[in-house]
Amino acid sequence: MSHVKIYPSILSADFSCLGEEVQRVEKAGAHGIHLDVMDGNFVPNITFGASVIKSIRKTTELPFWAHLMIQHPEKYIDDYKDAGVQGIIFHAEISYDHIKLAAAIHDAGLGAGISINPETEVSEIFDCLPYLEEVLVMTVHPGFGGQTFMSEQMNKITEIRNKAEELDHHIEISVDGGVNKNNAGELVQRGVNILVVGSAIYKSDNYEKAVKEIKMNAEKQP
Ligand code: DX5
Ligand code: ZN
Repeated sequence: MSHVKIYPSILSADFSCLGEEVQRVEKAGAHGIHLDVMDGNFVPNITFGASVIKSIRKTTELPFWAHLMIQHPEKYIDDYKDAGVQGIIFHAEISYDHIKLAAAIHDAGLGAGISINPETEVSEIFDCLPYLEEVLVMTVHPGFGGQTFMSEQMNKITEIRNKAEELDHHIEISVDGGVNKNNAGELVQRGVNILVVGSAIYKSDNYEKAVKEIKMNAEKQP
């Protein structure tokens, strides 16, 4: 029985009632909320920042993890702490030192994760792996919801798992982009702990059914 966690990404939610949208997926069985922050610089899209996260914080007790698709996450750690997130995921492709950034996030009392884009090799995050709680493998090019799953990215999951074992360091592996009931099973079999799911839930006509089907397929043993 896998204990995979489902973190809906609110990028595909109805932004006119974000608080209710968060409560709906909580009721549907979500384990946490994935918050896609975009600055229009690191990725060609702008979404929301810490103030919006702060306003929806009071609508649920679920863990909030902010996926910062922004050039300078080092400038905003306190903002996201104040907004009430439990973790910050920054991108391997930024210029700031990853180990320094992980330390600053931990100093703020938050969990630290790193995300790698499809074109980024896993070896680029090996140095900072021991300082992190999570690695988020992008299975789409970041910036938009509803894109097609890039299945060749799944090879990175095994590489990360092997490296973490070699380092004797526990790491949560999450996957983000085009995740749905059809690929959830293989992702979990390969060692994914957290499925980030946007449109497969928020663009469905029944959130409860969507989450249930993803969980069911994720727990199907090979
Ligand atoms: C894309 C975001 C993802 C996205 C996932 O840049 O990081 O979290 O919202 O949405 P779907 O599941 O629709 O691909
Ligand atoms: Zn994301």
